[in-house]
Amino acid sequence: MNYTLNPLKDLDPALLPRLAEIQMGDAGLLSKLGYPFVLRYFEIAIKDERAFGFYAQEKETNEIMGFSLASPEPSALTTKLTDNKKWFLTNILKVLFTRPLVFLQMVISSITIQGQMENEAIECIYFTVDPKFRGQQLGRTLQTALMDEGRKRGYKKIFASIETWNTASLAATQANGFTIIKSFREGVYRRHRLESKL
Ligand SMILES: CC(C)(COP(=O)(O)OP(=O)(O)OC[C@H]1O[C@@H](n2cnc3c(N)ncnc32)[C@H](O)[C@@H]1OP(=O)(O)O)[C@@H](O)C(=O)NCCC(=O)NCCS
Repeated sequence: MNYTLNPLKDLDPALLPRLAEIQMGDAGLLSKLGYPFVLRYFEIAIKDERAFGFYAQEKETNEIMGFSLASPEPSALTTKLTDNKKWFLTNILKVLFTRPLVFLQMVISSITIQGQMENEAIECIYFTVDPKFRGQQLGRTLQTALMDEGRKRGYKKIFASIETWNTASLAATQANGFTIIKSFREGVYRRHRLESKL
């Protein structure tokens, strides 16, 4: 694979829908909230001062192949979804009426992650690769980029929470040096909590 790895901050906003489309292929909570939330979330993430990440772009076609995102304060990104009250109310009402349990899960997950962060630590919030580019070390490379950048920024530790069934994510994350420190229930999810020194 011939690609470049670039900071998410440099992403042309016109390419955000492609990022959102890749994330929609992930089985996690954000994609269950629906496409408008996913798109909004990444609009917020690329502007957030403390969050950082990377995207891989195929040289020949310019296609975005995958991305990663980290922050010392992951809950701040979710909270910012409510900043535009009109947008938030319109969209969250749709979720409340059609998928009330997803809304409840969002509240539970936001509270849980706040209680799990430490000073001088970052969370690997997402690392996602388009299915057609998987199995070629890109996931690991995108996560390693977060670790290298976190270290440069002076953080001492990186955390990740991964659903217990997610063999690919667990394999990639453990191959990158993370170890499981606990397993826990978060609403309907069963997750492993992993950490690595930076
Ligand atoms: C997790 C994900 C990013 C991995 O991306 P990827 O590019 O396919 O992974 P890599 O090629 O870098 O694989 C890294 C390691 O994981 C292993 N691995 C990858 N997929 C695997 C699978 N399905 N089962 C078992 N091991 C797997 C590889 O063997 C490799 O190990 P090695 O380096 O020791 O040989 C990708 O599967 C994905 O986007 N999943 C959906 C989104 C997601 O779940 N993200 C994580 C949220 S916590």
